[in-house]
Amino acid sequence: MMKDKPAKLIIVSNRLPVKADIRDEIIHFEKSAGGLATGLDSLDTSREKHWIGWSGIYTTGGKTEDKLTDSLAGYNFHPVFLTEEDTELYYEGYCNSTLWPLFHYFFIYTRHEDRYWEAYRKVNNLFLEKVREIATPDDIIWIQDYHLMLLPSLVREYLPSVRIGFFLHIPFPSYELFRTLENRNEILMGLVGADLIGFHTFNYMRHFISSLYRITGIESDDNTFHAGNRTFSVDTFPMGINFANFYEAGKKPGVRLFVEQFREQYKNWKIILSVDRLDYSKGIIQRLEAFRNLLVSRPEWINKVSLVMILVPSRDSVDRYNDLKVRIDETIGNINGTFSQSGWIPIHYYYKNFSFDELAAFYYVSHVALVTPLRDGMNLVAKEFVAAKAGKRGVLILSEMAGASIELTDAILVNPNNSGEIAEALNKALEMPADEQKERLNKMQRILKKQDIKKWAGDFIDELERIHLRQRSIRKKYLQLQQLRSIAANFRDSRRKLIILDYDGTLVPFYPDPALALPPPSLLKIIKKIKRKPGIEMAIVSGRNREFLEKVFTDPGIALFAEHGSHRRIGGEWKSLFRKGLSWQSEIIRIMQDVTDTTPGSFIERKETAVVWHYRNTDKWLADLRAAQLINKLIYPCTTRHLHLMKGEKIIEVKPSEYTKGTAIKNFYDFNDFDFILAAGDDTTDEDMFEALPENSVTIKIGKPSEKSRYTLANTSDFLRFLKLLIR
Ligand code: UDP
Ligand code: G6P
Repeated sequence: MMKDKPAKLIIVSNRLPVKADIRDEIIHFEKSAGGLATGLDSLDTSREKHWIGWSGIYTTGGKTEDKLTDSLAGYNFHPVFLTEEDTELYYEGYCNSTLWPLFHYFFIYTRHEDRYWEAYRKVNNLFLEKVREIATPDDIIWIQDYHLMLLPSLVREYLPSVRIGFFLHIPFPSYELFRTLENRNEILMGLVGADLIGFHTFNYMRHFISSLYRITGIESDDNTFHAGNRTFSVDTFPMGINFANFYEAGKKPGVRLFVEQFREQYKNWKIILSVDRLDYSKGIIQRLEAFRNLLVSRPEWINKVSLVMILVPSRDSVDRYNDLKVRIDETIGNINGTFSQSGWIPIHYYYKNFSFDELAAFYYVSHVALVTPLRDGMNLVAKEFVAAKAGKRGVLILSEMAGASIELTDAILVNPNNSGEIAEALNKALEMPADEQKERLNKMQRILKKQDIKKWAGDFIDELERIHLRQRSIRKKYLQLQQLRSIAANFRDSRRKLIILDYDGTLVPFYPDPALALPPPSLLKIIKKIKRKPGIEMAIVSGRNREFLEKVFTDPGIALFAEHGSHRRIGGEWKSLFRKGLSWQSEIIRIMQDVTDTTPGSFIERKETAVVWHYRNTDKWLADLRAAQLINKLIYPCTTRHLHLMKGEKIIEVKPSEYTKGTAIKNFYDFNDFDFILAAGDDTTDEDMFEALPENSVTIKIGKPSEKSRYTLANTSDFLRFLKLLIR
């Protein structure tokens, strides 16, 4: 028997790990710069790995493209071709003049042009075309970084059940910044097509969750979101490096050659190493000023240390990058001009991309690595330096604004904006005793060895698989047409039917003001029709008070259970079942009032038997804080007075403990009298009801799926559609 072809891992990123260049009609390749390409390229996975990305060449059509496609096919690299205009508007424009500066907190550098946005959409669609050529529904599609934030939802539309992961390699900014982005909604809705969205650090994830909620209203349970009939998750996966490659590098003959060469070249000085792509987010000017500061404040280091500054050319067609290059050249010229002495220059400056062997040799021979980005998603250079110091001394000075600082706490952490602090850190590093250097390096190496690139990718893919499996079981809970048909048939064939419905969130959606949540005529019509069917009993079981319910449901034939069953109307007559004596209410109201006074948008509802604190219209962060505080304050009085404290859909309710929706229906109905029972609700209070019913009842949770219901429907409109189909 033929074995099934294993699923492919398809990495999709703006750039392939190689950059092509055509000279004299011959295609040349060099490795791409930057953490994403170097990190992921060194990933060695058991799956067949494919890579879709831009080759760095403009579309010219015809032969060259075919040639390039053919020469890359052997490596499973699949090039996407962009025109010169695409590159200008999408890559230089939306990616690197709109998103990059904004996400790195350079708000004033952020430019928005409609043409950029159009090109961004167009290019994301071009990538989609390539994905469609390569992917099958069984594959894992792993989309990378800020260039392709619309792609997850585009792919989802074509391959609804495929596994899609997304990883952001740069910071996700705070909501206050993200909200300034013109296309913020589209960007977020593009991302939510993924099953799993990964970030380097918890802070970026927190910012994303907050922006998603505030901008789209999509809310999370911890790190899982429910949008329509899909769920997706977010999590943190700090990217690692190929640790062994760097740790063993010192033994490699190719690296040794450079080590000897550099040792000879810099034999008289301690080396401070600085390695970056040329980018304003890297804090290069501030770093140079800190080095100048060291030479001024600690002149004893003159002629004893040199700064080796490696800048890898990057995005030089973007104006900001060009301007920065000019400023860096000037600053280096100025420092060297001021401090140089015969036989010694303070800064050795390289503006080029080094090979792995040369770079590893630089790491190996340097005494200090000075890594001080103003913002950086992760920063792999810091990790590579630490790893390359196998059994050796060395000190890492690291910006607290780099994602890597969360893990590398044994570095000397600095504020990259404070040149005095960096100069002091340099002095400390240069004077640090050998034992301390080794101890700090050892601790960091242990972390990097464990959390290497393979583990990073493995953790992400494992989590993606887990989410996918969970989604499958959740998807099974969503009512399918086939199931609906069989429910409708049972409904028709049964003689005695009981229909129990919650009100808010089930029959009508939530409104900022609960008094406005009135049923539309279409709903009342459906209810009337159901009610007319022979052998039907219908009950509305709600947390609402009796005045509201009887105003809405005027037909006395409909049983009403108000305030979770504390009052019930049968045959038009109300009967109260609640415990008399509501002396407890004043104390609870006083506690709730204190919280309400400091929580704009919240309010207290007094019912006959219960008191409710509503916070639907309050800022989510504040609401979560206040809800937790309120619950803490209420626990004691509720326990001593035997009151039931409940957290529902944006409410906290206190009521006598005798009645829940579950006990209310159980005490009143004999379920054996019915051969068809349907119950629907959206909240935790409705789950008491689902639990009380016989197992074969049709229980439907509206919104998020729940363990206690048999089926799920996404929202109130789907539920009304269901009711219509039921009685058709
Ligand atoms: N790098 C390189 N050649 C060089 C200098 C750097 O290949 O001459 C690599 C370096 O090994 C690292 C990457 O470029 O893996 C830079 O990644 P980092 O995360 O530090 O910054 P990014 O460029 O992604 O912002
Ligand atoms: C950062 C980004 C990567 C990008 C790299 C190099 O690391 O997160 O997505 O590939 O910089 O930038 P470039 O514009 O040359 O691709």
